[in-house]
Amino acid sequence: MSEVAKLTLRDYKIELPVVEGSESEVGIDIGKLRAETGAITLDEGYVNTGSTTSAITFLDGEKGVLRYRGYPIEQLAEHCDFVEVGYLLMKGELPTKSQLDTFQGKLSGFRKLPDEMTGFFAGFPKDAHPMATLCAGVLAMSNYYQRLLDVHDGEKVDEAVMRMLAKLPVIAAYAHRNTIGEAPLLPDEKLDYCRNFLRLMFAKKGEDYEAPDELVHALDMLLIVHADHEQNCSTSTVRMVGSADTNLFASISAGILALWGPLHGGANEACVNMLEMIREDGGNVGKYVDMAKDKSHGFRIMGFGHRVYKSYDPRAAIVKAACYKVLEKLKIDDPVFEIAQKLEEVAATDEYFLERNLYPNVDFYSGVLYRAMGIPPKMFTVLFAMGRLPGWIAHWLEMHHNPGKRINRPRQIYTGEIERNVVPMSERG
Ligand code: SDX
Repeated sequence: MSEVAKLTLRDYKIELPVVEGSESEVGIDIGKLRAETGAITLDEGYVNTGSTTSAITFLDGEKGVLRYRGYPIEQLAEHCDFVEVGYLLMKGELPTKSQLDTFQGKLSGFRKLPDEMTGFFAGFPKDAHPMATLCAGVLAMSNYYQRLLDVHDGEKVDEAVMRMLAKLPVIAAYAHRNTIGEAPLLPDEKLDYCRNFLRLMFAKKGEDYEAPDELVHALDMLLIVHADHEQNCSTSTVRMVGSADTNLFASISAGILALWGPLHGGANEACVNMLEMIREDGGNVGKYVDMAKDKSHGFRIMGFGHRVYKSYDPRAAIVKAACYKVLEKLKIDDPVFEIAQKLEEVAATDEYFLERNLYPNVDFYSGVLYRAMGIPPKMFTVLFAMGRLPGWIAHWLEMHHNPGKRINRPRQIYTGEIERNVVPMSERG
């Protein structure tokens, strides 16, 4: 007899099936709740609500564990490259050498944007935020690849996936170059994913450019630690939009917009702006910790806290360790890194942060590495999107392969006016 949860509600006494995951997580399947009791559940912000089952990523917020398809993030960050991890997330297994070479070769061949698209970026103002340009560019792909929009055609979906993965970094680099008044460069099929991106970002037209190995490896690692994070806000958005059978490009563009929010992926840009502000204010970390504790300020330590991690975000630990290595190797003395460490130290012994389990998250130190690469703060969340893309795609595909797939349509509890009649304008006083 499978396990059940017993619910007594007014005159109803029902049993609801209990679901247990492969990591012993327990859920109550409320699929028949409304039909049997007329009631629904209510869970603002979905703090206690699972939207689906998934085999892609497991995280344990209490223990600070993160695994993609069963592999610990620490091992993936150390032993793999980003394209390899993208393959793992989407296909469920690490590739063999020949599988990876084929995959990489296909991606490189799809990098070039359609000719009509290169003029697209010049239409945006120089002060355009690259997240808006990235979203528009990704969405525009549904115009340039109209033959790839059928979500039920496996071959077309596979091609759309490869074109999306290959072109997003190119669109990202073009969005940046437009803000600095530099014409886009053609992608180089011979370069690997990270080297191609860094060249498109920083090379001067007609000049050779070789990204330093330390920065290439740091970028690879950053993209890996951002690659997936189960049902976060932007991934849930991609699933929500995709559940309506919206094409892949439009679903991803929706995820980009959700990620842009400062409470989500936009926190990396907000964090480095906050650290700069503290630096300009004499590095007075205590003042900002006090402001964060005093709700009347409405100020938060960006890059701190997490809905799921109630311990140190394992990704923050990986990124922080890389900061020491890269800054030392490149002989960069970044005051913002010093301030971030001081902020973490002060918070680590402060009751307010301890009792709320507030620790650095993935966005707290990532900006230090992006700065070392010469990436401007407005591009930080664009790099987050580049990293998260294979995770978004993996979840979009998993949703479509789920035989129980239905359009996502949550219910609500109405709290507005009860029925009343329209009063003619002449009588409305
Ligand atoms: C990402 O979901 C994911 O997996 C996201 C992500 C991913 O990979 O996809 O990990 C990426 O988005 C990381 C988070 C980036 N955001 C930030 O760093 C912004 C700053 N942090 C927060 O605003 C907040 O911590 C959230 C949004 C991350 C989580 O918000 P919750 O879970 O809704 O928690 P909450 O806002 O209800 O806060 C609980 C308490 C509150 O205090 P009390 O009302 O209990 O007194 O903690 C306080 C909050 O005021 N609090 C903070 C704080 N974060 C929470 N106080 C000061 N500074 C902070 N950063």
